[in-house]
Amino acid sequence: MDFIMALGRQKVALVGDGAVGSSFAFAMMQQGIAEEFVIIDVVKERTEGDALDLEDAQVFTSPKNIYSGDYDDCSDADVVVITAGAPQKPGETRLDLVNKNLKIMQSIIKPIVDSGFDGIIVVAANPVDILTYAAQKFSGFPKERVFGSGTSLDTSRLQVALGKKLGIDPRDINAYIMGEHGDSEFAALNAATVGSVPLISLAEKAGLSMDDLLKIEDDTRNKAYEIINRKGATFYGIGTCLMRITKAILNDENAVLPVGAPLNGEYGLDDIYIGTPAVINASGVAQVLEVPLSADEAKKMQASAETLKKTTADGLA
Ligand code: NAD
Ligand code: LAC
Repeated sequence: MDFIMALGRQKVALVGDGAVGSSFAFAMMQQGIAEEFVIIDVVKERTEGDALDLEDAQVFTSPKNIYSGDYDDCSDADVVVITAGAPQKPGETRLDLVNKNLKIMQSIIKPIVDSGFDGIIVVAANPVDILTYAAQKFSGFPKERVFGSGTSLDTSRLQVALGKKLGIDPRDINAYIMGEHGDSEFAALNAATVGSVPLISLAEKAGLSMDDLLKIEDDTRNKAYEIINRKGATFYGIGTCLMRITKAILNDENAVLPVGAPLNGEYGLDDIYIGTPAVINASGVAQVLEVPLSADEAKKMQASAETLKKTTADGLA
């Protein structure tokens, strides 16, 4: 499969052409990734309009066959990205969306599988860790071929916030948000580094106390609410994260990215999808990287996993 993907045309299918899906499509167009891009949604007029609008951008990036399609078009796709689902209204948590969005996920996965699709499924719809778990169960695909955006966006937010405080390029800050993509997530500060220097000692030198770092963690956790309260939804950040993840799959990169990965004993957990760094390539999640957590962080990981397991059990019951 890797060999074919490296030589052949790359095809991505997007399911869910709302704010997040169309931002992802735009990011893919801007970066000139994948020669073929099909957009699927229950609102056909929107996918047709978006395809017509987005195709005009190729003159300035690279040629792409972008069109409104149906589930049958997933049959020869390399990656299907799922962003279909209700977003939070102001005041709602991601977990509040579980029942509504599980039903949507169930209705989507069957026709994707029935199309004969044999690639990688990436889920972004919320609550993303639970919907990713459900997508894997509903599809029957091997766990490594289904994964979620997890704490990808949250990790970007943490890197951006730390970068501003430390006066350092956020891309060079090796710090992860882990656990649920949601209110129980936490920053793995113990193992975080910048240029191999422990983040905590670098922050200390810059005059930032542990309390300051925990405030940054808290602001990161709440950033989605701040955005939703102001403009109703978040989409450019996640659209770009999804582009980065898709690129890592299509180019068989073995990139280390924070995602919602299936655990198999890492952190003492299994039968769960949760935010952690992982190695991403053409086969999906090639390897989960187990971050050395402090005792306190390990407790937060367990608590976050419990929140997810409880909601998953209630939602899928
Ligand atoms: P939106 O309402 O703008 O778009 C949702 C789209 O899904 C709509 O176009 C709708 O027609 C489509 N849809 C609904 N049911 C469908 C079905 N059965 N089949 C096909 N399409 C269907 O919402 P949005 O702002 O794009 O958010 C989408 C999801 O992404 C939400 O669940 C939101 O919470 C989530 N999200 C996740 C992250 C993350 O970091 N993982 C970030 C932002 C948003
Ligand atoms: C986010 C969405 C709402 O921006 O999950 O974090």
